[in-house]
Amino acid sequence: MSTIKSMLHEARVFPPLPEFVEQANLASMEAYQALCAEAKKDYPGFWSKLAQKHILWHKPFTSVLNDSDPPFYKWFEDGELNISYNCLDRHLTSQPDKLAIIFEADDGKVSRCTYRELYQRVCQFANGLKALNIRKGDRIIIYLPMRIEAIIAMQACARIGVIHSVVFAGFSAKSLHERIVDAGAVAVITADEQTRGGKHYPLKATVDEALSMNGTDSVKSVIVYQHTGMDTPWQAGRDIGWHELTQNKQTDCEPEWINAEHPLFTLYTSGSTGKPKGVQHSSAGYLLGVMVSMQWVFDYKPTDIFWCTADVGWITGHSYVTYGPLAMGATQVVFEGVPTYPDAGRFWKIIQDHKVTTFYTAPTAIRSLIKLGVDLPGQYDLSSLRLLGSVGEPINPEAWMWYYNVVGQSRCPIVDTWWQTETGCHMIAPVPGAVPLKPGSCTFPLPGISAAVIDEAGHEVEQGKGGFLVIKQPFPSQIRTLWRDPERFKKTYFPQDIGEGHFYLAGDSAHRDNDGYFWIMGRIDDVLNVSGHRLGTMEIESALVANPLVAEAAVVGKPHEIKGEVIVAFIVLKEKCPHGEQASKIANSLREWVVHEIGPIAKPEEIRFGDNLPKTRSGKIMRRLLRTLARGEEITQDTSTLENPAILDQLKQPIL
Ligand code: WT7
Repeated sequence: MSTIKSMLHEARVFPPLPEFVEQANLASMEAYQALCAEAKKDYPGFWSKLAQKHILWHKPFTSVLNDSDPPFYKWFEDGELNISYNCLDRHLTSQPDKLAIIFEADDGKVSRCTYRELYQRVCQFANGLKALNIRKGDRIIIYLPMRIEAIIAMQACARIGVIHSVVFAGFSAKSLHERIVDAGAVAVITADEQTRGGKHYPLKATVDEALSMNGTDSVKSVIVYQHTGMDTPWQAGRDIGWHELTQNKQTDCEPEWINAEHPLFTLYTSGSTGKPKGVQHSSAGYLLGVMVSMQWVFDYKPTDIFWCTADVGWITGHSYVTYGPLAMGATQVVFEGVPTYPDAGRFWKIIQDHKVTTFYTAPTAIRSLIKLGVDLPGQYDLSSLRLLGSVGEPINPEAWMWYYNVVGQSRCPIVDTWWQTETGCHMIAPVPGAVPLKPGSCTFPLPGISAAVIDEAGHEVEQGKGGFLVIKQPFPSQIRTLWRDPERFKKTYFPQDIGEGHFYLAGDSAHRDNDGYFWIMGRIDDVLNVSGHRLGTMEIESALVANPLVAEAAVVGKPHEIKGEVIVAFIVLKEKCPHGEQASKIANSLREWVVHEIGPIAKPEEIRFGDNLPKTRSGKIMRRLLRTLARGEEITQDTSTLENPAILDQLKQPIL
């Protein structure tokens, strides 16, 4: 709460600098406002014009927005296109030899790939998929390291109308299994291993483990990219090498023309209840969103060297690695490794070596790099940079100032982009040639995005007051539904009890300041943000109670200097409450258990044991008290409804 207060009083304002404005795609507040006004005046007309300008259509659309069955909106619904055609083929005549990807491996080895080469590799792989009898509408799980092959796999799926679902390679076999089953996948694309920070981690073995569990009969093929060349067990008839699959395949592949609303992908994300949600995106609306945001927010220029550090396992990697930059015909850096290996100068060295102009990363990375070397960026030539970006959580003003002054040398605007897996592309973010920046604020909605802060009745709250962040009108890149769960989609994002179900509810709270700037305050549901990644408390609690030792578990977040938030778990064991040495032993085993069940990102920072949890008389766990305890603060809240006050003392002490 204290950081939110300090942000409220943030008075520093950074107007666009003349050198930037001179070259900007949208170069004044008037230009930005004119676009907003255009969207207001003729909403479908505004999007229709952009969709015609940015997308290559196989069959043009005649219907712009179909809102006859809210909240199941359809955009450009009678149009036909292909996403991979829009990302690759369109550049074949104009700029086939332009570099599409500069790839830097974990060990520093650099390889390059032109648009022609990328096109050929995507086509070969798509032909390989077809040879396995994989067809339009099938689902494929992609579980790959952050290498060119991940982008090829995604683009190849798009080329033949296959719906991909990328699972971040840090997820456990259990999490992978859950997603394979929910998607009803026909194939899994993986690698023998991944390497990060000089360490090797098995992937194929994890896929084998996931596929040995129930409900995976739909999977007929496992495609294995030999990355490190390590020996992996092989299941004949099911497993096939990447090389085998693509060798002797044609380097052309006719794109499958698909409907604008055909799902391009699903991507699983955490919600307040246990099971991850399969966020389903469309094809055309999604592509349009990522393209206009490349143009408006990243101020994209053909001369840019674009670098988004996100892994393709997250939405940021989908939109601003696999689809956005390629659709624009950009040259981009793709990086396999971690920011701190071989040392904390790695990011700065990559920017220097590849002359990166546009750099997009997360506050957690910025904060950890500040800690490891406040002056480190100064040892590198960062003069190529012209724009910086931030995503994943609110950026604290101190980190913003460092990013601005030390990395951007006080010349590069910072675009703090608020958006979500569900929105597909940036929603609230500065248009850098137009909007004066305030450290810690994501500033204003993009043209055509009707973001607002409302109360429960659906009325906009007064300036300075917090409320629910909503988007009032449907927009092209928004989530279409939750995979195989339209009811949950409706309930989660268009709940009846807030604004009568008319608005897209983001799940964040926010407020606007006297100048109308948006400030994101945090989640309104039981979702944590650990290092910019969303984790549901229920998901972690279910994992914990699945352990034979555990009777009850409650998980809360606690603010953390670098990660934003860390996980604290309060646990009641089936046996009596442990102490001392024994307690720390069990705590460690439970932390490892969560890593095994979900993945390293969900590992609790701290575990505390008690004979019970603080509950109301009706048996509800009082999480707000647990949050206070986790922070090590004194309880000042009302505890009159608490059934068992004595429990608070017991849960006060962290075990070490
Ligand atoms: C949640 C979405 C969008 C890609 C990365 C995360 C938080 C994201 C910001 C920002 C404040 C932010 C919100 C949001 N968030 N960007 N610039 N300022 N908060 O995607 O996993 O779908 O998480 O991340 O809480 O709801 P995600």
